Amino acid sequence: MSFSGKGGVGKSTLLIMLLKHVLNTKKYKNILVIDADPDANVADIIGEEIRFKETVGGKMTELKEKIAKRQIPLDVPKNQIIESEVFDAIIEKDEFDIIEMGRSEGEGCYCSVNNTLKQVIDVIAKNYDLVLIDAPAGLEYFARKTGRNVTDLVIVTDASKMGLHTMERIIEVSKEVNLKFEKIWILGNKFPSDTESVLKDRVEKIGDNRVEFLGVVPYDDEISKFNLVGKNLLKISNNAQLYKSISELYEKVL
Ligand SMILES: Nc1ncnc2c1ncn2[C@@H]1O[C@H](COP(=O)(O)OP(=O)(O)OP(=O)(O)O)[C@@H](O)[C@H]1O
Ligand SMILES: [Mg+2]
Repeated sequence: MSFSGKGGVGKSTLLIMLLKHVLNTKKYKNILVIDADPDANVADIIGEEIRFKETVGGKMTELKEKIAKRQIPLDVPKNQIIESEVFDAIIEKDEFDIIEMGRSEGEGCYCSVNNTLKQVIDVIAKNYDLVLIDAPAGLEYFARKTGRNVTDLVIVTDASKMGLHTMERIIEVSKEVNLKFEKIWILGNKFPSDTESVLKDRVEKIGDNRVEFLGVVPYDDEISKFNLVGKNLLKISNNAQLYKSISELYEKVL
């Protein structure tokens, strides 16, 4: 399941709320969180510090340097090397695993490294019962066809014209590049009361049977406070307003 939407609408926050819900209900045993956003990290929200070297991007940067300096033995297949690097980047927490993609640096085109990387991530994801992906804001991630094996897409929008526009564009782009999501859920975040129907109507107008309106959740002061002081969002009370309202909605998704 992948979370997407305009920047700042609450993708990472709502992904963590889903993770909290899944951990509380114990519906899935093996859970992997892939943080594919190089800028804003899921890790930050749950108070985890991950150094660049520990990210997939960091490891790939090192690998590219080694390739450039011809320090890689020729007799080991490249996908095997990449696979072991990515396995190395998996951070095992008590209740779930997390992998930080980070960004890959270095000069030149290493398309074969990047292509293999995608395949390796797909292979690793198969070892888990549930994979949650925090996609970077906007459309580019989907235009690159990165979410190939993702069955469910959650598009988060806030109550803004731009949020809704990005939502519609993501659906269009996913069709253009032929991404086969089984379900696309539309989730409104930070919605004022009595504005739910605006989003609902907009979603109905899209007229695509994969696209389903999931619901809206309100702005919750407690969430911003947690973020401001850098507290682990997973530890928010089960009675927090946002968590309670979103848990109900997530029951539909799982
Ligand atoms: N329902 C909510 N109530 C109050 N604050 C919220 C809510 N949802 C998200 N926020 C706050 O809004 C800000 C942006 O949220 P978040 O980082 O989850 O968005 P994002 O879509 O992942 O952003 P980015 O595109 O930068 O990755 C954060 O400060 C977060 O605490
Ligand atoms: Mg984010």
